[in-house]
Amino acid sequence: MSPATPYQTVLGLETSCDETAAAVVRLGPEGETEVLSSVVASQIAAHAPYGGVVPEIAARAHVEMIDQIAAEALAQAGLGYGQLTGVAATAGPGLVGGVMVGLSFGKAVALARGLPLIAVNHLEGHAVSARLAAHIPYPFLLLLVSGGHCQLLSVEGVGACRRLGSTIDDAAGEAFDKIAKTLGLPYPGGPALEKLAEGGDAARYALPRMLLGRKDCDFSFSGLKTAAARLAEGLTEDIERRDLAAAVQTAIAAQLAERSDRAMAAYAQARGGQDLSFVVAGGVAANKTVRRVLEAAAAKRGFSFTAPPLAYCTDNAAMIALAGAERLALGQSDPLDAAARPRWPLDEAASLANPTHQPGRKGAKA
Ligand code: KG4
Ligand code: ZN
Repeated sequence: MSPATPYQTVLGLETSCDETAAAVVRLGPEGETEVLSSVVASQIAAHAPYGGVVPEIAARAHVEMIDQIAAEALAQAGLGYGQLTGVAATAGPGLVGGVMVGLSFGKAVALARGLPLIAVNHLEGHAVSARLAAHIPYPFLLLLVSGGHCQLLSVEGVGACRRLGSTIDDAAGEAFDKIAKTLGLPYPGGPALEKLAEGGDAARYALPRMLLGRKDCDFSFSGLKTAAARLAEGLTEDIERRDLAAAVQTAIAAQLAERSDRAMAAYAQARGGQDLSFVVAGGVAANKTVRRVLEAAAAKRGFSFTAPPLAYCTDNAAMIALAGAERLALGQSDPLDAAARPRWPLDEAASLANPTHQPGRKGAKA
């Protein structure tokens, strides 16, 4: 591979779920990061009538939007295709119809403009998302909490992640969404549940604390989901729904903090008390209670705490562009026949080694 050019200016494309996003990010030789544009077109309105993301609708919407969103990202950055040094597209994991749209678009740009293509793992995008707005050197401990993923990772460098724990059933965002639905809230449920919970009395309802006392760093939310659904069925008053929402939010945040605390202890021991940096990323990191509880957990263990700005917590293309730019700076790129992958664990070895992380027929889900 050829040595790196000093500045990478990368167009990022994200189409793995229900956001069509494009962004331009510039990465300097000292790791200076500048987001020149970040455009996100949400499909929430298209999926809302169905109470969740419909893959076929998502794929069609991405096809309709991708050209104009990419053009808008370049226009906002004040650049033309000729000024880019590379194009990065999410190649998985995600809804494969959508992934194919962004990846194919990226390949077309790469081919037409003679640019290197970087096929980015969406999770690697979330892993670097906090680096878009703050200087966070490698290594760091990452809690990745989104609608499809819930895992603790030791992020040792570009593309080098070691998984310390993962969910054995649902992801945290999935739990928020499903419980929100039983409370009669619209999709996406996480932000709606957070709003409902404002001012609620979390102590009113006792909810199960999952995996308490287990020595690993895994997560489980299915028991909480069932208990909350049962309680929700019997509610008649708005104030009861508010208090249950607060109890659910507190229970999810508590589990995230408790498992993160375990991971921090193991990480600190493995590193001899050095590099104590804890980062949370993914859509659920937008939740204020979750942030507050995790920040306190980090402080207790002597870790610094970073969460990305809200716009970089949920899906966006700036994080994909940065993940691509970091790889490009190391001289890495991918062939034009890079495949779209519905499942693509960040730490493949850990995923294969642990059968409890493979609830689905097709392998690890979250
Ligand atoms: O990272 P993301 O945009 O997409 C995935 O890669 O999954 O995360 C979306 C998830 C959804 O489950 C959504 O309900 C949740 O993040 N979420 C929240 C909040 N904002 C988004 N959950 C709780 N509180 C929030 N404020
Ligand atoms: Zn995501």
